Amino acid sequence: MSFWRLDTPAQTMVLGSDGGMACCHYWGAPLPRDTDLAALVAAGAGGLTGGMLDALPPLSLIPEARRSFPGQPGLVAFDDTGASLEPDWQFAGTDEGEALTLRHTAPGLRLDITLRALAHGLLGLRAQLSSDRPLRLHHLALALPVPDHLDDLTEFAGRWTREFQPVTTRLDHGTRLRDARTGRSGHEHPPHLILSTQGATHTRGEAVALHYGWSGGHRMLVETLPEGRRQIQLGHASGSERDAATEFATAEIWLARGDQGLNSVAIPFQRAIRDALPAARQPRPVHYNGWEAIYFRHDPAELAEIAGRAAALGAERFVLDDGWFGRRDDDTSSLGDWTIDPRKHPKGFAPLIAKVHALGMRFGLWFEPEMVNEDSDLFRAHPEWLLGPADQIRGRNQLHLDMARADVRNYLFDRIDAILGAWDIDYVKWDHNRLTPWPDAAQTRGVYALMDRLRAAHPSVEWESCASGGGRIDAGILTRCARVWLSDSNDALERLRIQHEAAAFLPACATGSHVGPRECHTSGRILPMALRVWTAAQRHMGFEMDPRELTEAEAATLSRVTAWWRANRDWMMAGDIWRLDRPAGDLAEMQLAADGARFVIFAARIATSAPMQPPRLRLTALDPDAPYLLRMLEHPPGHPASATALSRGDLILSGAVLMAQGVALPPAFPQTIAVIEGERL
Ligand code: DGJ
Repeated sequence: MSFWRLDTPAQTMVLGSDGGMACCHYWGAPLPRDTDLAALVAAGAGGLTGGMLDALPPLSLIPEARRSFPGQPGLVAFDDTGASLEPDWQFAGTDEGEALTLRHTAPGLRLDITLRALAHGLLGLRAQLSSDRPLRLHHLALALPVPDHLDDLTEFAGRWTREFQPVTTRLDHGTRLRDARTGRSGHEHPPHLILSTQGATHTRGEAVALHYGWSGGHRMLVETLPEGRRQIQLGHASGSERDAATEFATAEIWLARGDQGLNSVAIPFQRAIRDALPAARQPRPVHYNGWEAIYFRHDPAELAEIAGRAAALGAERFVLDDGWFGRRDDDTSSLGDWTIDPRKHPKGFAPLIAKVHALGMRFGLWFEPEMVNEDSDLFRAHPEWLLGPADQIRGRNQLHLDMARADVRNYLFDRIDAILGAWDIDYVKWDHNRLTPWPDAAQTRGVYALMDRLRAAHPSVEWESCASGGGRIDAGILTRCARVWLSDSNDALERLRIQHEAAAFLPACATGSHVGPRECHTSGRILPMALRVWTAAQRHMGFEMDPRELTEAEAATLSRVTAWWRANRDWMMAGDIWRLDRPAGDLAEMQLAADGARFVIFAARIATSAPMQPPRLRLTALDPDAPYLLRMLEHPPGHPASATALSRGDLILSGAVLMAQGVALPPAFPQTIAVIEGERL
């Protein structure tokens, strides 16, 4: 039996092989350097009882049906005769350098599994399968044992305008499977999972988190095996490799572990994603996006007026959304015809860009490259570029192009390259509003290839990932796009919750958040400006309303908070989001600078609280011995007698007091927010 270990400051993983496929024998808290791995593994092996095989089938890194594994196998594939592949994997050695690669062979096959230590205490795990004859793959998934004491599985569900809904289930018996079959990481299945001790909170409990860095949909299986072991598998969505091939690979799975609550797995992910993002303009500019102001109505005089008002409020980048190309007067036509509509922009973008630049803003533009409308010159010329059957159900009146075709990608490259080459554009919002008709990994590879080619040709352009809001958010797209459009909901109450939950892995700098119209277009709610603008100020800030609708008081609040964001964004966008434990109806988070010297707390009251006085706000991640100055910047309205010491004036308290007892917040009205700045003295 051979053993290997990989360590990060947060976790140890021990792998072993008895001559067959390697298994993960231990995944948990860091172990001392001198741990006897053979003794560790021997001590952990369970005994047999009646009704079992004479030995426990191994839970190998890709569980093998051939070895009587009683659960779901990690590889389901077929050869050209249709025979099921059940390889007799033999361990064939390691490559050890920056990463540990475990090599395996079987007749005509090779399987490499690579584990590496990443920054911020993460581990990365991936697999690559090669064959000397074409195979048909159903799925290829890596498996890890779920540590025995982690009984809660938290997944994220979601939908358009209500992304990132955590769903926690207690692992019991049987199988939990999700297979994201919509061709993108998906509103309904962002590829991020947490296994934790029962009832873990943001600040208490032990957890591991797994993230599958792929934008084409993943397959997750969590299964309790008959004798009680549990496995978690991750791979591409099943059936998404549609063609016979000789090479297959999983995406890299990032693994985090911590025992200081869910924050201790969220923050390593926020940092790792931030490191992986492509370079972006610094400081991060305040966006103005015109979508919810004008939709498809592009009138040069109106756009110029809106741009002027947006700049006066503090915007620094003007993004022209859908409606500028073809004859796109609504969502029934023109996708694919990426030339400027001369009816709307008779002199091209020259006058608008000149105006935007004169106002001190940069200019950004919307595309939806992977899509086509039947009512388009592109579709009329190339109906064969469509992905899927001609009679498929339309989505927003549109169809998906076959991004696996080089001619499709070349056409899109030429059109987008021509626009980016002709005009001074430093930002592209890349949208994706129709699902693929079936799961298809070649589409994801195609879109990555097109994005990579465009990024290489236009290195100063930044890209934003949007898919009807947050439908394509994962570590794969986030190595190409420095920002995601988290949701089409600009309703501050919804947005607060969505962005709070998404901080399970998304850093503030990558998360777009805009102040929408007074009457929210996706919920009909009317919320106070203070709540709306402080919600946007928690992430990469922007506006998306018609600024002409603002009252003087609303404009003053918007400008004041935007100025505050611009003064603080450098450290906030480089800092961590620590979520605080609050009762139902409240949401609070603390954004802490990388050097720990300052922080800001956003404490929102969404609904009335059950008790008269909300529980004290306990902070986290501070130096217990250091004194901190706290100052309330935004006072939430409430009863005339609601003031607490913090709302009456500055407080100086030690980190120990702030973390052990906390501070009393005023019992505020619902739909309000308190903002508190903190500074280490
Ligand atoms: C869907 C996006 O999520 C919106 O922000 C907007 O860009 C529209 N598409 C434009 O059609």
